[in-house]
Amino acid sequence: MGFVESYQNLELLRFLTCGSVDHGKSTLIGRLLYDSRSVPDDQAAVARRHTARYGSGSTDLDFAMLVDGLRAEREQGITIDVAYRYFATPKRKFIIADAPGHEQYTRNMATGASHCDLALVLVDVREGIVEQTRRHAFIAALLGIRHMVLAVNKMDLADFDERRFDEVRRDFIDFCTRLEVTDVEFIPISASNGDNLVERSAAMPWYRGRPLLDYLETVHVASDRNLIDLRFPVQMTLRSGETRHLAGTIASGVVRVGDEVAILPSLRRAHIESLAVGGESISEAFAPMAVTATLDRDVDVSRGDLVAHVRNVPAVERELEAMVVWMSESPLAAGKEYLLKHATASVPCRVSDVRYRVDVQELRHHSAAQLALNEIGRVRIATARPVAFDSYVRNRAMGSFIFIDRLTNATAGAGMILDREEADEPAPRKLRRAAASRVLRKRGTTAPTRAGGTRATSGAAAATRTS
Ligand code: GTP
Ligand code: MG
Repeated sequence: MGFVESYQNLELLRFLTCGSVDHGKSTLIGRLLYDSRSVPDDQAAVARRHTARYGSGSTDLDFAMLVDGLRAEREQGITIDVAYRYFATPKRKFIIADAPGHEQYTRNMATGASHCDLALVLVDVREGIVEQTRRHAFIAALLGIRHMVLAVNKMDLADFDERRFDEVRRDFIDFCTRLEVTDVEFIPISASNGDNLVERSAAMPWYRGRPLLDYLETVHVASDRNLIDLRFPVQMTLRSGETRHLAGTIASGVVRVGDEVAILPSLRRAHIESLAVGGESISEAFAPMAVTATLDRDVDVSRGDLVAHVRNVPAVERELEAMVVWMSESPLAAGKEYLLKHATASVPCRVSDVRYRVDVQELRHHSAAQLALNEIGRVRIATARPVAFDSYVRNRAMGSFIFIDRLTNATAGAGMILDREEADEPAPRKLRRAAASRVLRKRGTTAPTRAGGTRATSGAAAATRTS
């Protein structure tokens, strides 16, 4: 196999970097880019000059300069958004979504995180878990990120002390047993010195886990994708002669020629007659392939409809409940009308109720009449037409939507649809314990006594308690 083919076949991991200001994100990203030789020579030379001019006087390269040099260019643009960076190793390709740290950019973080498989949360070992660490971990969990790495950074400034690392780790476990995260890895690092990034650090012989890059190269995320429920949102229909072709990207699941399917929301039935990718006939297709399909009979289908297997259809309703991250200066409140954009459908909707706002620090609910910019809360929505959806926990593509302001056409908020029964009922005790033990089942981690305490864990919504 040639270089290009083997490169194309590498699996892609999208991950989010987040954490409080100055905890070392830029340094870590710069280091990963540099060590994987993803930095062109001229750029490294510029970073060296910047280091000499602005740096601490040390002759070493300041790795943050590699990233912040790019950032200076970026800030000449108009929006402050998540910055995407790209690098590859012989084992995997990576896209890093670098979330802005400040609270006022929560909305940008929400958009950046929604496509990520993993969140890398950085924490300065001297400061430990702070407000921003909790906020970012909560949002990452809310957005369905199931894998998290807590990189405890600047270990060199804490004498590479195992006990201090353990303290920080326990604090974080305490917080995230209340979130719906299935996998948390803890790695003590020094981003500027390179400890436990590519090679195991000789300075921390007590750490028996893998270095960060090794973990990122091997963490298993493919099974997070939903290959069970076929959801094929129709993006457009094309007619050639007598035949109507349905085009779109499969959001989840697998479809084969001959399968009996239902078109939603009409619930008309048909069989798949043919499938094609880029003009070539295929017998089976799966997410996230972009395909065209034809049906064995001429049923009415248009953009915004959804194709699913007849025995596995999503909910089709005119009312739904969701956790919302609000992104507009003008607050969300009961009675307001928006356009709800969900998969390929756009439907007018009205907010019928704001149920509560979430205090992200304490994971408590507060009753609220509205949600202001960057606030997170649970709302009930009525739509003008029936919408076919799944809960976000089950299906990220079919459980998420955005609110569009109908006057300005701007995105006003992002929503994650809740499984109503699950969200309303407190999770059974057993389930809570199971979730806690999943989080705790890490190398050498001992369960704190309050694991599985009084908190619910079924989804980030239920993970919060009413104050
Ligand atoms: P913002 O982008 O401002 O939010 O900060 P950041 O999270 O990107 O932090 P940055 O990488 O800029 O690092 C902040 C400071 O910590 C810099 O002076 C780094 O050189 C220093 N630093 C980062 N990692 C380490 C480390 O492992 N050890 C030591 N000693 N210093 C570090
Ligand atoms: Mg930075």
